[in-house]
Amino acid sequence: MFKKLFIVPALTIAFVLLTINYSQAQVSLNDKNSYTGVKSCGMCHKKDKDGSQLKIWEESKHVQAFKVLASPEAKKIAAAKGIADPQKEKACLICHAIGYQAGALVDKKFSIEDGVQCESCHGAGSEYKSMKVMKNHTAAVAAGMRDFSKDGSIKDLCITCHNEKSPTFKGFNFEEKWKEIAHPIPKG
Ligand code: HEC
Ligand code: HEC
Ligand code: HEC
Ligand code: HEC
Repeated sequence: MFKKLFIVPALTIAFVLLTINYSQAQVSLNDKNSYTGVKSCGMCHKKDKDGSQLKIWEESKHVQAFKVLASPEAKKIAAAKGIADPQKEKACLICHAIGYQAGALVDKKFSIEDGVQCESCHGAGSEYKSMKVMKNHTAAVAAGMRDFSKDGSIKDLCITCHNEKSPTFKGFNFEEKWKEIAHPIPKG
């Protein structure tokens, strides 16, 4: 009798400890950050003298990556895989959108319709988008902004999506494609 009474709380404690350990392993900086959306980033990154990042993105195909999942071509690809609606299907969204994952945090201005947006590449921005943090590279990286200072890290990012797992993949020439979407801050 005494034994049985003891076993229940002991198991409960063991379970709680396991859960805590597990959830700690899952929490990275990026999981705590929320996606603020391209409108929020674009506010400070649209002037010509600063490099017109917003406009360069708006003129790229990344802007339509979610919408294209509603096209006849997308529906045909999906149908062949037994997928009813590509805009609701993780197997397509994984490269065509952000913020759709269960538990993903998104701010009011965020829209999944904006497809492959700033934070698809730079990381969820709630903790690094303030002027103070943005001006300090080390602080921004510590707050969840992706660091591209290592050789090859830009290409490594591109090929997480531009690879043969894309149903329409026809190869990826990094140097050429990066030139098409590069959006540097003018030096001066
Ligand atoms: C309040 C204005 C503001 C907002 C909002 C903002 N930025 Fe910035 N960002 C800046 C300023 C200022 C710099 C520094 C520019 C410089 O160093 O010349 C910067 C720099 C950057 C850099 C280069 C940082 C580095 O150290 O390499 C990236 C990348 C960037 N921003 C992306 C973003 C993204 C993505 C968002 C949205 C999540 C965003 N920014 C939102 C003002 C802002
Ligand atoms: C999160 C996934 C993802 C990442 C990361 C990504 N892309 Fe894309 N990219 C896409 C998708 C999806 C499309 C297709 C959009 C459409 O046509 O509707 C696309 C289209 C493009 C296009 C136009 C189509 C083409 O092949 O010419 C260019 C150029 C491009 N990406 C360059 C890049 C470069 C350079 C990088 C790395 C700096 C990059 N992308 C990173 C998902 C991604
Ligand atoms: C591994 C990442 C990845 C996955 C998964 C993925 N896509 Fe894409 N998709 C891309 C990229 C990158 C492009 C642009 C270049 C290319 O075709 O590889 C693209 C382009 C497209 C295009 C052509 C857009 C245009 O402008 O012509 C369609 C349609 C499309 N994808 C539909 C889908 C559908 C439907 C699914 C799910 C069954 C899916 N994709 C899954 C990465 C992906
Ligand atoms: C497809 C991926 C991708 C998307 C989408 C994207 N960026 Fe970037 N961005 C990069 C990469 C990669 C770099 C690093 C370039 C380097 O270090 O040479 C960069 C650099 C920057 C820089 C710093 C440029 C410099 O000269 O230091 C700013 C600012 C920036 N991005 C803002 C934005 C904003 C704002 C958006 C959305 C409107 C955006 N980016 C969308 C991949 C992307």
